[in-house]
Amino acid sequence: MKLSTKIQLYTTVMIVLTLIVVNVFVYITFKKNAIQNEVHQLENRAINIIKELEKSNQTKQDNEKIIVNHLLSDGSVTIVNQNNKRKLQIMTKQHYRNLIEDYSDKQTDKYITRGNHHFVMVSVPVLWEDKETVNLQIYENIDMKHESFENLKWILIGSTIMVTIITFILNMIITHSILKPIHLLINKMSNIHKTKGYTKIESIENTSKELDDLTDTFNLMMKRLSEQEEKEQSFIANASHELKTPITVIKSYSEMLKRFGKSKPEVLDEGLDAIHEEAIRMSYLANQMLQITSFHKQTKHNERESFELIQLLQSTAKKLSITHGQKIEVQSKIKTLHIKLNQEQFVQLITIFIDNAIKYSDKSVVITLNQKHKNVMLQIEDKGIGIPAESLDKIFNRFYRVDKARTRKTGGSGLGLYIAKEIAQANDIGIDVYSELNYGTTVKLTIKEQYIETFS
Ligand SMILES: Nc1ncnc2c1ncn2[C@@H]1O[C@H](COP(=O)(O)OP(=O)(O)OP(=O)(O)O)[C@@H](O)[C@H]1O
Ligand SMILES: [Mg+2]
Repeated sequence: MKLSTKIQLYTTVMIVLTLIVVNVFVYITFKKNAIQNEVHQLENRAINIIKELEKSNQTKQDNEKIIVNHLLSDGSVTIVNQNNKRKLQIMTKQHYRNLIEDYSDKQTDKYITRGNHHFVMVSVPVLWEDKETVNLQIYENIDMKHESFENLKWILIGSTIMVTIITFILNMIITHSILKPIHLLINKMSNIHKTKGYTKIESIENTSKELDDLTDTFNLMMKRLSEQEEKEQSFIANASHELKTPITVIKSYSEMLKRFGKSKPEVLDEGLDAIHEEAIRMSYLANQMLQITSFHKQTKHNERESFELIQLLQSTAKKLSITHGQKIEVQSKIKTLHIKLNQEQFVQLITIFIDNAIKYSDKSVVITLNQKHKNVMLQIEDKGIGIPAESLDKIFNRFYRVDKARTRKTGGSGLGLYIAKEIAQANDIGIDVYSELNYGTTVKLTIKEQYIETFS
């Protein structure tokens, strides 16, 4: 169902229901009050009759006279004995003869309909001429009142129908004017969707704050999508560029092997070595790229856990030192330090920096742990080739390598520091790199106070 139809239907139904309830209440209250008034008047009349009867000689003639005096302009007075027999009836019209109710020893009142006529009746017990207790029943014709009830009923029904129609029309106009900017916005959005672009939309003039917010959110989303697509495109371009060299090498060596491989054994060895080396490079690259995608999936529900840092540093350094055959020292004045971070990602982060320090230096690597203010500073230092100043702000870019020719030998893909930056961001770890060409590089990682649990 369309939003406009929904709003229109709900508001109209609600207003009509409220109106019906109010009108029924008005009708019932009005009718009840009007009848109550009539009953009160009849009660007063009955009291007057009783008073006069008490004062009289209690003869049949006297009683009859009193009752005739008190007869209404349109009604009847009936005296009913305990056997429900009428002892006396005085009426203004002959057909009121059948106006008789059963005897009751209490005062009662009633609204009676006989044929097309409507009456109110009050019945009071009184002492009659022979000391017998009878009912004095006074009936009053209220046909005029009843007619006014009917008129009120039709006025209320008519006004309900009129208000329903007016509400429906007004609702239609208001809903249309409220939803007009939304329709405009939908049109603009669907036009953008059709063009398959990431264009921003202009906010609609004189509209509500909610629609302004919606426009802003849509524009932010478009911006993020376009940045994301740009990132993906450049990643694909970079990755294909990186794959081009090993593929070309593999292609040309395999062609050479096809031609001369069988006849020249020295060509066979060289070709197989080159193909093997490039295959290893490609598998490394594919592995790095897989790490990036799996990391992006993981960070959506990044789980932090508590672990001891010094032990973790020592075991990681030992493992890397053995695999790379290079000395790694861990220096720390702090004896134990428990932090709360994603342990798996943290190991990955320090491995990237230690791996670089080993790869780009021949001397031993030093890892130092210090307390700085309330934070913890982890420093990875090498005395290697260093990074030129103009490259320092680029080393965290994807596929960036200072010296491509050199890194072909060391086997890097230029993705390590990009992954490190993403991990550090996800775990709120600060990274600072200080480097001097031909002197060495120092990487400083800052673990913030809120992630430190205990240390001694
Ligand atoms: N400690 C370091 N000393 C000298 N140069 C470094 C050091 N760390 C990084 N670099 C330079 O920064 C570049 C980017 O480093 P990064 O770790 O991202 O890539 P990589 O080491 O070449 O490859 P990968 O780490 O993906 O195997 C390196 O190619 C290197 O030129
Ligand atoms: Mg690296």
